[in-house]
Amino acid sequence: MSIDYKAEIERLKQTLDVTVVAHYYQRDEVFEMADITGDSLELARRSKADKNPWVVFCGVGFMGQSVKVIAPEKRVLMPKIACCAMARMIDGSYFDDSVNYMVERGIAKEDILPITYINSDATVKAKVGEMGGYVCTSSNAFNIISKGLETGKKILFVPDRCLGQNFAIQMGLKSCVIGEEGKGECDPKEADVICFNGFCSVHQLFTLDDIEFYRNKYPDIKIAVHPECDPKIVAAADFSGSTSQLIKYVADLDPEQKVAIGTEYNLVNRMRQKNTYVLSSTKPECPTMNETTLEDLYNTLKSIEDGKPINEVLVDEHTVKYANLALERMLAIK
Ligand code: 13P
Ligand code: SF4
Repeated sequence: MSIDYKAEIERLKQTLDVTVVAHYYQRDEVFEMADITGDSLELARRSKADKNPWVVFCGVGFMGQSVKVIAPEKRVLMPKIACCAMARMIDGSYFDDSVNYMVERGIAKEDILPITYINSDATVKAKVGEMGGYVCTSSNAFNIISKGLETGKKILFVPDRCLGQNFAIQMGLKSCVIGEEGKGECDPKEADVICFNGFCSVHQLFTLDDIEFYRNKYPDIKIAVHPECDPKIVAAADFSGSTSQLIKYVADLDPEQKVAIGTEYNLVNRMRQKNTYVLSSTKPECPTMNETTLEDLYNTLKSIEDGKPINEVLVDEHTVKYANLALERMLAIK
């Protein structure tokens, strides 16, 4: 007999002390079952404040890990421990190499303030925390970089070069990318923000040709993109903002205003039915966000009921301590 996953998930949510959390990029059928939805900043804040001891997190690995770090007393399970491709681009040793690169080029370690995008492993956040640095998300990167600059130190921004460069441009700062091929060596002495060379492959799909196509087809169209897009895409757009900022921007437009949006497909598809276009000739789905299915969500909740929890997120004590410092420094800033 086949299982009615939706009905079973509802039943399990009623009987267990569990909160189901989902990022905006999740498949619609999973997203609809969640008690808390949002972008990565909202999910971190709201999961921490939530009263239930169990969290089932539908998203990618670093998001579930972040809940475990800021609320270690909670039991955090993930229906799929899917890893964000960008987060995978940096680990502790790449982080150390980046710090060493700056030191070798004449910047003392005490004069480096690291900031890591929340899309990173807890071990990287812990290294950042140990050096007095911050986590940021695309919603608060402007405020966090501004706070970092108050120290007078050089900012080492990891792992997303696009986010680092886009905010540096917006703030009138000089940036460079460590290891960027074909663009000469990054001289940290000449830059305010030194970016690691990571990127999101989904947000790299949007091109200037896509923008030109829509502007030619609909001359009054607005172009709105996520700051994980390449700086030349952000420069050519009318608006750039985090997931929740994009949602607000589109909701505030006149319903007749056409808009093409450069971010993940599931979110764009859900935003608005009319006059909304995906800014790409391909379907920009995040493969790992899409891995989680209703069946996975059901299996995870059922494993709690059966007393044999699966896919639990575990983070060691040292990592929790220092990663939490970097996350709490972020949460203390609006
Ligand atoms: P938000 O911080 O906007 O939720 O984005 C997370 C992400 O992975 C974007 O690709
Ligand atoms: Fe990571 Fe990109 Fe997917 Fe966001 S869209 S979770 S940055 S791979």
